[in-house]
Amino acid sequence: MKPVKLGLLGVGTVGASTALVLKNNAAEIARRAGRQIQIIQAARRSPASGMPDGCGDISLTGDPFEVVDNPEIDVVIELIGGYQPARELVLRAIELGKHVVTANKALIALHGNEIFAAAQEKGVNVVFEAAVAGGIPIIKSIREGLAGNHIEWLAGIINGTGNFILTEMRDKGRDFDDVLREAQALGYAEADPTFDVEGIDAAHKLCILSSIAFGIPLQFDAVYTEGIAGISTEDVVYAGELGYRIKHLGVARRTGQGIEMRVHPTLIPEKRLIANVDGVMNAVLVQADKLGPSLYYGAGAGADPTASAVVADIIDVARTITTDAQNRVPHLAFQPDQIVDIPILPITEVHTAYYLRMRVDDRPGVMAEITRIMGDQHISIEAILQKEPETGVTRATIIMLTQKIREQQMVEAIDAIARLDVVHGDVHRIRVETLDGD
Ligand code: HSE
Repeated sequence: MKPVKLGLLGVGTVGASTALVLKNNAAEIARRAGRQIQIIQAARRSPASGMPDGCGDISLTGDPFEVVDNPEIDVVIELIGGYQPARELVLRAIELGKHVVTANKALIALHGNEIFAAAQEKGVNVVFEAAVAGGIPIIKSIREGLAGNHIEWLAGIINGTGNFILTEMRDKGRDFDDVLREAQALGYAEADPTFDVEGIDAAHKLCILSSIAFGIPLQFDAVYTEGIAGISTEDVVYAGELGYRIKHLGVARRTGQGIEMRVHPTLIPEKRLIANVDGVMNAVLVQADKLGPSLYYGAGAGADPTASAVVADIIDVARTITTDAQNRVPHLAFQPDQIVDIPILPITEVHTAYYLRMRVDDRPGVMAEITRIMGDQHISIEAILQKEPETGVTRATIIMLTQKIREQQMVEAIDAIARLDVVHGDVHRIRVETLDGD
């Protein structure tokens, strides 16, 4: 069979590694794909820098549109990232009848509906395994491996940089900015690291996972997003005393009222496997009706792990290039005419448990005032911890764990507690997930 010819857009961390994997593992890849696969042209911002040593004979240009337009190229590998010009390049490749492999979660989360509709129309494939959880084959697992199941919920640590920062803060007491700089140097962080820290990168990925899990359109704007910047060492320590770890989690859940899509710091019981996923590693826990819970774990960022997913997608495309477009795995797991617009619940309607931390006057009756407000909002308290004030200090720290409650009720309770004269400063709140199957 004729070799499959690729055009590579972007020769950064992942692009360079993809070119090297294709070259170094070429024989094994051809045995799997049933044909040779080779990059014949690449685009990078500074073509004078050349390709990394060992990539073979690849012509270089500074113009990515030249690669997309190259009539020799069957498959375009988009590893530029960002919204523009990635969207324009991908839509142009589709228009020209080319298949696309991308690692671009921002592009898929925001423009995926438009891109997949165009690809459907042209009968080409757009694949995006590397967009979520780096090297973990989570898209393939949900889309194909769990295809016989009704997926109830999923919860994932899906930003390596955020997990790396939280882990280093907990284990080594390191400073937030210092760890972030290291994550950038290691190539884990996004070009704009606020995407990692503020949860936007995780929200892109959760939006994609929700769509393939539940057969709903991609709706990035509907994902409730909170980052990790507000997490203090104090909370990490108290969570530990209560038997929990704080993780930045993406949660998607199907309920009778609609679908929850939310990204936020979360207390997880430390005995759960996912609570022990540390450093740059990612993990996604999926609760499906027939399989029950299953956990997917691996490197969520970095050059080689991400290239591993990109190359697997390239092989998949090479295998299906001659097949009937109607019989390929649908882009979003469900047939395009079966994507259903189920309502997304606003965060105020979501039910979770909570961890609360507050600074209060250390005198009789204070706890009673606080618990009265909780009672008025029908919030049941699961545990209370009061930290002894140091000698001579008249204020104490109270930590509470509650049972599950609708978020709006918790917001009202927190407002009322914060207004009490005996409470000083903010009432800090972190959601709690037990991830035990219900
Ligand atoms: N910045 C991302 C992360 C890279 O830290 O997980 C992989 O998408």
